Amino acid sequence: MKLIAAADYQDMSQKAASIFLKQMEQKKQSVLGLATGGTVKGVYSELVDVFIEGEISFAEAASFNLDEYFGMKKEDPNSYFSYMQEQFFSKTDFALERNHIPDGTAADPMEECSRYDRLIEQAGGVDLQLLGIGENGHIGFNEPGTPFEIGTHLVRLTESTRQANARYFETMAQVPKEAITMGIGTIMKSRKIVLLASGVKKAGAIEQLWYGEVTEDFPASVLKQHPDATIIADKEALSGIR
Ligand code: F6R
Repeated sequence: MKLIAAADYQDMSQKAASIFLKQMEQKKQSVLGLATGGTVKGVYSELVDVFIEGEISFAEAASFNLDEYFGMKKEDPNSYFSYMQEQFFSKTDFALERNHIPDGTAADPMEECSRYDRLIEQAGGVDLQLLGIGENGHIGFNEPGTPFEIGTHLVRLTESTRQANARYFETMAQVPKEAITMGIGTIMKSRKIVLLASGVKKAGAIEQLWYGEVTEDFPASVLKQHPDATIIADKEALSGIR
């Protein structure tokens, strides 16, 4: 696992965007694994700027998002579908039929999970996966205790994750209780992984990721077993690293 120190949020976002740029230069048909949340917004904004300058095209790329709230329609402003449209897809030249996000309204969530894993496989697997990290070490919505080998699955969100996400909702009752997420096994199949962390709230997680053991109690620790995983963290998130 590699660690890149960034000065601040913008520097972290630019460093991550340049890895995406390089990936797209090497392979126009790249399969990108994408995340939502506050940490990765800056990366999308950087990539949109580079796209507007005409230096990158996503026309031949495909994407797979990590997760979607279960029971949420894609038109809902809080869905990860809406987030991706707003932050990235609608501002670039992606072919929308190649932008994949788990269907949060699927009648049979188990079938939706297997369908999603099959789609990733049929696309040739993820070339570059972007990740954020939860304060409890979650990646995607794989909460502590999730088996490392699991594929895409339906999860019950922990109270701490629901509370961390409550800022986007009017009331706590509106915060979904379940989500469909790529599993740790799915994430680990990606050829390259970049995990971002920003702000002092993530300092404990980054400290544990860097110094701690590999354990299912801290999902992100699995990345130590990946051949090409990089953490990019800003000064505040790195405040626990000596
Ligand atoms: C998002 C995701 C989550 C977030 C994590 C950090 O698709 O899967 O694992 O990356 O919860 O969220 P932020 O960046 O909002 O702190």
